[in-house]
Amino acid sequence: MTEPVNRTPLIAGNWKMNTTLESGVALAKNILEGVAAIDAGFSTPGWEIAFYPPATSLALVADLCAGFDACDVLVGAQNMHAEDSGAFTGEISAEMVLSCGAGSVLLGHSERRHVFNETDAEIGAKVKAAVDAAITPVLCVGEKLEERDADKTMEVVAHQLEAGIEGLTEAEQLKTVIVAYEPVWAIGTGRTASPAQAQEVHGFLRKELGKAFEKRGGKAEDRETIRILYGGSVKPDNASELLGETDIDGALVGGASLDAQSFLGICEGSN
Ligand code: PGA
Repeated sequence: MTEPVNRTPLIAGNWKMNTTLESGVALAKNILEGVAAIDAGFSTPGWEIAFYPPATSLALVADLCAGFDACDVLVGAQNMHAEDSGAFTGEISAEMVLSCGAGSVLLGHSERRHVFNETDAEIGAKVKAAVDAAITPVLCVGEKLEERDADKTMEVVAHQLEAGIEGLTEAEQLKTVIVAYEPVWAIGTGRTASPAQAQEVHGFLRKELGKAFEKRGGKAEDRETIRILYGGSVKPDNASELLGETDIDGALVGGASLDAQSFLGICEGSN
């Protein structure tokens, strides 16, 4: 029998193309103050929050979070290029993310896949670049509505997962990845997957991760160490139900992360 792994719940805010320097810092400050004020019982068994501000505010938000000790705070970029440097106007590199004091990056978000047409190969290269630079990638996967209706959800997310981690050849590298399941039809639509629908996909992804670990010389049980976040219209009133599912280890929150009270409400629901 393997020991059950206690995965630290992670509530992550994806600010997308919202907030200025001033409003972003104010938002992060309000959330940190709220977090610090929440009952100490919150910190057992431990939980973590994350901010993914626009690149322009990354350094300031990272700086603000650096000394915070009520819980762990991850600060990350919303995207990153796979190359180290060069003629890639408008892009940022792993080194630049690190130089801002950030330690994570969202990769393969549905808006990157479907609005900016990022390919599986590009996303896989970015995940590898992030892991090589010791930046924690949050690899996002999720099906479109027509794919769900055609019963292709598992096929789509399995493929996105596999392609996303393809460049990671060692089990130890795979252990550093966070996965986010975000059904495209639930993002920004107010339509959430039911806890059972989400759990079904999370459980499936965890099984796929088990196979991926074995393929890399690791143990299938290593899948238990990976956090799989749910994203798509997470709000204070649906968070605790979603997070109550066995394989849902946190939330990637868009709209509701832009308001300190709703983000804090989701955090409270996670405990
Ligand atoms: P939403 O966005 O919470 O506004 O649906 C989630 C996301 O895109 O990460």
